[in-house]
Amino acid sequence: MSIIVTGGAGFIGANFVLSWAQSATEPIVNLDKLTYAGNPGNLVSLGTHPSYTFVRGDIGDRRLLAELLADHRPRAVLNFAAESHVDRSIYGPEDFIQTNVVGTFHLLEEVRSYWAALPEPQQRDFRFLHVSTDEVYGSLGPTDPAFRETTAYAPNSPYSASKAASDHLVRAYLHTYGVPTLTTNCSNNYGPYQFPEKLIPLMILNALSGKPLPVYGDGQNVRDWLFVGDHCAAIRVVLEKGRVGETYNIGGNSEQRNLDVVRTLCALLDELVPTSSYRPHEKLITYVKDRPGHDRRYAIDATKIRTELGWEPSETFASGLRKTVSWYLDNRAWCDNITSGSYRTWMDRNYENRGAA
Ligand code: NAD
Ligand code: TYD
Repeated sequence: MSIIVTGGAGFIGANFVLSWAQSATEPIVNLDKLTYAGNPGNLVSLGTHPSYTFVRGDIGDRRLLAELLADHRPRAVLNFAAESHVDRSIYGPEDFIQTNVVGTFHLLEEVRSYWAALPEPQQRDFRFLHVSTDEVYGSLGPTDPAFRETTAYAPNSPYSASKAASDHLVRAYLHTYGVPTLTTNCSNNYGPYQFPEKLIPLMILNALSGKPLPVYGDGQNVRDWLFVGDHCAAIRVVLEKGRVGETYNIGGNSEQRNLDVVRTLCALLDELVPTSSYRPHEKLITYVKDRPGHDRRYAIDATKIRTELGWEPSETFASGLRKTVSWYLDNRAWCDNITSGSYRTWMDRNYENRGAA
């Protein structure tokens, strides 16, 4: 028995692979294209772990997929691979359509033919788990109830539209072909190994080097934050106990306004880096022009996964954020490696001509 994950060199996938390799003996195969977001450095601590195999490749490469499935005979395929950054999807949606929609389609096709040829009981026990986002549900008003699994899809960005499309394909493969699928829709993650284009690591690294902290618009947009380790634990629970064909919302019950997140980060850095010449870090906060189509609020109702599968987050936002800031402070080499090269091009593109709010 083994499992295949896709996108395991990215932020959430790497956290998943690392925790799997630490706690399970079952082999894990990681198929990752190593885009700008895929970083083999996230997995160096695995060394030559006997149960871990890395394969560089695209989820849209049918021949490679067929080979991998035939060679490793997995009992599950977990699809983390995606283009994942909303701002990049605004500048260049094509990669998002290619990987998130077309890539997921090719993956589903190969999984379908592998699964269809499995003997019982392997066919019954096989799972395709698709890792998705709460952004497919669109934007909430200040007093709207949180997203449930029954909330209608209303994606607003090329990123969320491409993820919504992939979720629909997964649903269709269940209903039309009987492929045993599971889908998870999770809120915003934070934690170790997150690429510093996303809010929390970007603010930490900018603050450490005395750069402006670019808050979009009025900073009042709300996200529901979950520590990445809790997301990975939830995925494992869904994989082992989730009911076939179901979708599960995953969230930390931790709604925060962006400005409050940035202020909390600044206070943590003031405390943890008392020698910094940029204290108080809050003075680095700069309001910049808003993201087009910026969703105002996301919030997850995680009642279903809690009551059906017994999952609950183990970190609060305060404990998870402290762990995260400490991780970035303790892993400066990882940060320096990431922030060289093409990262600078992205920073120039997204922030240079943005102007004030
Ligand atoms: P990420 O951008 O950090 O990593 C994505 C990984 O996928 C990278 O390693 C990249 O190399 C790989 N990849 C991209 N295109 C590929 C392709 N065509 N073939 C193979 N590999 C490819 O993303 P993340 O934040 O780790 O997110 C992982 C998944 O979780 C995504 O599907 C995302 O939509 C979902 N998600 C993310 C969040 C979040 O807050 N980050 C929240 C909910 C759901
Ligand atoms: P992000 O981490 O990109 O996640 P998502 O857009 O998927 O929610 O952004 C989180 C929030 O932070 C979002 O409301 C946009 C905002 N934001 C900023 O204010 N400044 C920034 O530089 C970035 C990257 C995000």
